[in-house]
Amino acid sequence: MISQQFLDELLSKNDIVSVVSSYILLKRVGGDFVALCPFHNEKTASFHVYPQSDSFYCFGCETGGSIITFVQKIENLSYIDAVRFLAQKSKMSFFEDDKENSKFFKKNEIFRVNREAAKFFYSSLYTKEGSNALLYLKSRGVNEKAIRHFGIGYSDSSKFSLCNHLFKSGFEEEILKESGLVFNNKTASLSDRFLNRIMFPIIDLNGNVIGFGGRSINDSYPKYLNTKETLVFKKGTNLFSLNFAKKTKENFLILTEGYMDVISLFQLGFENIIATLGTALTFFQSRLLSKYTNNVVIAYDNDEAGQRATDRAISFLRNEGIFVKVLKLEKEKDPDEFVQTYKEQAVYRFSKLIKEAKSDIEYRLQKIKNSISDNSDNEIIYLQKAIKVLCSIKNKMEREIWAKRLSSEFGIDKKTIIHQIELKEVKQKKKSFKEEIKNIKVSLSGRNDIVNKEKAKFLKAASAEELLISYIIHHFEDVDIIFKKISSRDFCTNFNARVMKCIEDFVKQRKMSQNITIHDFQNNFSVSEIGRIAKFFASDISKKDSIVNAFNYIDVVFSEKMRERIFKSDFSEVDTIKDYINVLKRCKK
Ligand code: UTP
Ligand code: MN
Repeated sequence: MISQQFLDELLSKNDIVSVVSSYILLKRVGGDFVALCPFHNEKTASFHVYPQSDSFYCFGCETGGSIITFVQKIENLSYIDAVRFLAQKSKMSFFEDDKENSKFFKKNEIFRVNREAAKFFYSSLYTKEGSNALLYLKSRGVNEKAIRHFGIGYSDSSKFSLCNHLFKSGFEEEILKESGLVFNNKTASLSDRFLNRIMFPIIDLNGNVIGFGGRSINDSYPKYLNTKETLVFKKGTNLFSLNFAKKTKENFLILTEGYMDVISLFQLGFENIIATLGTALTFFQSRLLSKYTNNVVIAYDNDEAGQRATDRAISFLRNEGIFVKVLKLEKEKDPDEFVQTYKEQAVYRFSKLIKEAKSDIEYRLQKIKNSISDNSDNEIIYLQKAIKVLCSIKNKMEREIWAKRLSSEFGIDKKTIIHQIELKEVKQKKKSFKEEIKNIKVSLSGRNDIVNKEKAKFLKAASAEELLISYIIHHFEDVDIIFKKISSRDFCTNFNARVMKCIEDFVKQRKMSQNITIHDFQNNFSVSEIGRIAKFFASDISKKDSIVNAFNYIDVVFSEKMRERIFKSDFSEVDTIKDYINVLKRCKK
């Protein structure tokens, strides 16, 4: 158990706004803050942070809670581990019990294992067994400086080299397996996962080695073997070399597909290069990038897969408000091949390609043009498709510029083009509005409510209970008056009753006239339940609600509860029915 005193100190040392803003960009709106939600993909910000109640809530995905819940969600930790995480951040000494079950300790151990492995791989490159690997790197033009900079190494062909080394370094079998570097082979002995491969460490933004990519040097399958998912390595959440590229003085980053693209360009002197490592860019990665730059140049492979990946990356990056350009290689397969082909001319030529890179809009328009034959009848098809592309531009000025270009290209009035874009936009808005209404209806019906499963059954009561709880939270000075009239036992739905009970217990134990906070619920509710409670704290309507309404909610809860009893009873309980009629009369008034 964590003592209240410890928690109080932790919470006083970690303020929700600064912790959240170390992950995402917060914008101040009045006394609160809003942002694009880090937990789901969205175009308009529905993630709110409320410094006053020390809570956050996303109206889009309904994630919410305290600063501890936030750390739990974003770092994928248990409650206790999130507390440990924050304690470490604020340099508080923390409890070490239950270490074996702690993801927090395990994560730190895996980082240590990975770092030791990276050192071992690096040194193996310069042993007799590593000589072929070193030759391979040389043959691909990788120099000593790059090897050192990226910490490139070699995993040899013996099945136990790394295993033995890590055991000697004092690591436990359990943690070696969890690092993904080692596994139980068929004969149940531990053996190395990466054999005879060039090893590229993947480093996160805090400088931790989170995983490896291993390139085969003898055409064995797969060409690249990557660390499988572990506690610290999740595909699609990091970018190779962002730990270096984030320090660049350039105001843009170049996004490539592979390790070798980054390394070859680094050798030319480009330090602002990152790679997605073969997978399509995810929204997490785009969000991460938007923290470091407003400008990205995409330099993916020069093939169909590369083009598809480019289209997807454009849409994700634009969504984050990043200006995107697309670099076009001539015949070369990827930036690495480009560098090898042009040798000493490569710096100059690649810089030129960067300068000539087309904006995402131009790239998309060009692609449409290429897909339509040059025929005057096709002008209208092109224009229609072009309007759709321009519709994705949110910035009015940028939109005007493109409308002007189209206007002069086709001799059409600019106003007509803008009008067409706006018509299309209205149509799209209507569609998404309809979608939103549909979602709201489902949410109001309580049908898909996973937190309060009884909501659909007792819709009226549950809604009144929610409004009442929100009222109490926002008007805690009225809590005693309300508890004179109703208690958690009078509630119809179990979840809301539990919330109410927690408030009752708090009031019984509180010192002076303390207000309840999100932290006072933390011990008794799961993460998704805390999300719902955060919604009560986030409710703007309740702030302006009146005690008269609160009394009404109470009446509704009572009448619904009685209705339920009457339907269940055999109509012999005359008194109950009389009571019910009285309550109904009061409700009508
Ligand atoms: P590519 O196949 O384009 O590799 O995959 P590459 O970078 O040109 O590699 P070289 O030049 O042949 O060495 C691009 C990226 O996709 C991931 C790797 O991260 C690679 O850098 N990939 C590729 C895998 O994860 N597994 C694979 O089997 C292949
Ligand atoms: Mn490639």
